[in-house]
Amino acid sequence: MSLDPAAYAFLKKYLLEGIGYDMGSGKEYLVEARLTPIAPLHGCTDATALIRKLQSQPAASLRQAIIDSMVTNESLFFRDDVPFQYLRNEALPRLVKARAASRTLRIWSAACSTGQEPYSIAIILREEAAKLGIAGWKIEILASDISTNALNRAKAGIFSNFEVQRGLPDATRTAYFEQVQQGWRFRQELVTPVRFQQHNLLDPPPSMGPFDLIFLRNVLIYFEADLKSRALARMAQALAPDGSLFLGAAECILDPNAPLARIEGAGSSIYRRKEMSHAAQLR
Ligand SMILES: C[S@@+](CC[C@H](N)C(=O)[O-])C[C@H]1O[C@@H](n2cnc3c(N)ncnc32)[C@H](O)[C@@H]1O
Repeated sequence: MSLDPAAYAFLKKYLLEGIGYDMGSGKEYLVEARLTPIAPLHGCTDATALIRKLQSQPAASLRQAIIDSMVTNESLFFRDDVPFQYLRNEALPRLVKARAASRTLRIWSAACSTGQEPYSIAIILREEAAKLGIAGWKIEILASDISTNALNRAKAGIFSNFEVQRGLPDATRTAYFEQVQQGWRFRQELVTPVRFQQHNLLDPPPSMGPFDLIFLRNVLIYFEADLKSRALARMAQALAPDGSLFLGAAECILDPNAPLARIEGAGSSIYRRKEMSHAAQLR
């Protein structure tokens, strides 16, 4: 049976209001492809019945299962390369100078999916530690996502052959991964520990900020425009005055009222708070 239009309309509104996801129109095929496989796990025959169950008995576990199935968790190590070069060569050296007194760095990977992004950051920190002179510093890496499935995979740190072949140089794979029965285990004991927690980008940022670096990559493309602006305003508040916000390579901020300005010459979509970019121009 094909998806009932009323069920589709309900799910569309539910995801928009709940997680900011703008599904658009004509995505019935996507909903069916994502929800049909999990319907029997919740005692339902098909995707329509599953959505109707969500509507009539919105249990937290069902809500989470539907969100987990509808989001796109695509990620890879050192995705797009350029932002990670910028992190290594520009952002970290500058921040380390600025934090010489507090010897503290706080980094947030705000839609971390299955962990490739925070682990890429942790690898760079370890590789640059001696050069930067950050041994003994307090470095916190927070990684969050709305999807508990993705977070569980991220915490386990086990990746398939395919996943470790995407974006990872051979030498990095050899240094930071070991082969286990289920695939390749990221050797978390070698790097700054990553703290994983569930967080919805529509909610206020985690209280442990302000963050020196925020990675918010390849997630706002799915957001409705107003909710995107709201999430970005919150990110700006959570960012240290001299911090940097990394968006996905193909993402940008078009809203002229946004409190963030693109860092020219970074070669990627990296932003700072507007008052800082103004101060930089005056210098
Ligand atoms: C395509 S992945 C991006 C992963 C990583 N940042 C990267 O660029 O490789 C998008 C992630 O955003 C998460 N996500 C979607 N809506 C969210 C929300 N409202 N709050 C937090 N995370 C969300 C999804 O669960 C998914 O893991």
